[in-house]
Amino acid sequence: MVQLSFTLIPAILLALRVAAGPVLVDESVITLDISRRFNFTGGSVVQSDLARINSVKNRSAAKSGRDARAVISEPVDNQVVTYIASVGVGSPATSYDLIVDTGSSNTWVGATKKYVVTSTSTKTTARVSVSYGSGSFSGTEFTDQVTLAPGLVIPKQSIGVASSSSGFSGTDGILGIGPVDLTSGTLSTGQLVPTVTDNLFSQGTITGNVVGISFEPTTTEDDVNGSLAFGGTDSTKFTGSIAFTAVTSTSPASEYWGINQSVTYGSTSILASTAGIVDTGTTLIYLATNGFTKYKSATGGVADANTGLLRITATQFAALQNLNFVIGGVTYALTPNAQIWPRSLNTAIGGSASSIYLVVADWGSNSGQGLDFINGYAFLERFYSVFDTGNKRIGFATTPFTTAATN
Ligand SMILES: *[C@@H]1O[C@H](CO)[C@@H](O)[C@H](O)[C@H]1NC(C)=O
Ligand SMILES: *[C@@H]1O[C@H](CO)[C@@H](O)[C@H](O)[C@H]1NC(C)=O
Ligand SMILES: *[C@@H]1O[C@H](CO)[C@@H](O)[C@H](O)[C@H]1NC(C)=O
Ligand SMILES: *[C@@H]1O[C@H](CO)[C@@H](O)[C@H](O)[C@H]1NC(C)=O
Repeated sequence: MVQLSFTLIPAILLALRVAAGPVLVDESVITLDISRRFNFTGGSVVQSDLARINSVKNRSAAKSGRDARAVISEPVDNQVVTYIASVGVGSPATSYDLIVDTGSSNTWVGATKKYVVTSTSTKTTARVSVSYGSGSFSGTEFTDQVTLAPGLVIPKQSIGVASSSSGFSGTDGILGIGPVDLTSGTLSTGQLVPTVTDNLFSQGTITGNVVGISFEPTTTEDDVNGSLAFGGTDSTKFTGSIAFTAVTSTSPASEYWGINQSVTYGSTSILASTAGIVDTGTTLIYLATNGFTKYKSATGGVADANTGLLRITATQFAALQNLNFVIGGVTYALTPNAQIWPRSLNTAIGGSASSIYLVVADWGSNSGQGLDFINGYAFLERFYSVFDTGNKRIGFATTPFTTAATN
């Protein structure tokens, strides 16, 4: 079982110089630790991300057709890596292990541990259902008291209570911190469901509608290795300043935490500027097929049937160059070490201990779709990320682990 703890960062007055936009002042930021959980049960890491990718693509297809029912991406069956927050619901609170997801926005419980009704529970007349690719849940919408951490309490949060769900073994539901519009079509009443961050902001608990996320690379299967900062950023988790970029206007990436980005490998262009998403629910980094093909030939990687990843030799690893993500004019370089799967976890994903695998995989279609890449954990474990709903922008900063040789 994972160990969870809460940390209260004392009130700090922190002025951050940002690349563009105003100075952001954080008054008090409360952080919630999240644990990384590793659970490989067969298939491949890539396959486990594919369900999510397909549902992202399906959602776009559904939106452009008649059927506007929400189909939101989520890693489900056979998911290898998840980040879990322990969230209290009710009074007295029952604690649920929820997947922290920036790629969906409904918060719900009851997948494994049954919802416990207390004096703060109010059943609404709304039915709720969300389809997440290969998994789903449906049930009833309640309002209840949600406790994220001491001092981070939402007295009346709208949450889903599952009466049925599939694909969520080992977790109790989702803490959805994507844009609120992703809740469109999930309630029978047609209403949107404000996220926990939206409510913390509107009730005045936090002074900015912002979440800062820190993931640290880890070489063990289960670890408390991340944290969520509500209301601002946790300056102990990043170095230098945070550079912000506007949420992309390109659809469908614009419905998620989407950005414009170009990618180079050394001085070789891999992907011209295009839109994609930043997603805590995806393990690897996915590039549009035309970009992935260039990366594959530049690195010399070959497809490895056992893991689904690209495999390189020790000589090729020694020659690996930085993979550069250019976002809002700032370059975020993934070092050679950051481009490989942690070698101590090779056998845990069906690979061989002595091989070297790359964490960049094929998105499955060429660029030009309006959603041409996903920067998943493999990226987010090297850069601090900030999801700023109030200003419709996303920020990144380097961390003490950006260039660490942990893998
Ligand atoms: C996506 O849509 C296709 C065709 O409608 C369907 O076969 C597939 O199951 C859907 N996949 C997901 C993950 O929803
Ligand atoms: C790991 O995944 C399997 C299959 O999805 C599931 O049955 C099991 O409960 C999971 N274990 C944990 C610790 O989450
Ligand atoms: C992350 O995991 C590594 C081991 O893989 C550990 O040394 C480090 O302390 C962890 N970070 C946090 C914040 O717990
Ligand atoms: C992103 O790229 C699109 C397409 O080139 C462009 O129209 C848009 O202005 C860019 N910036 C943002 C913030 O969307």
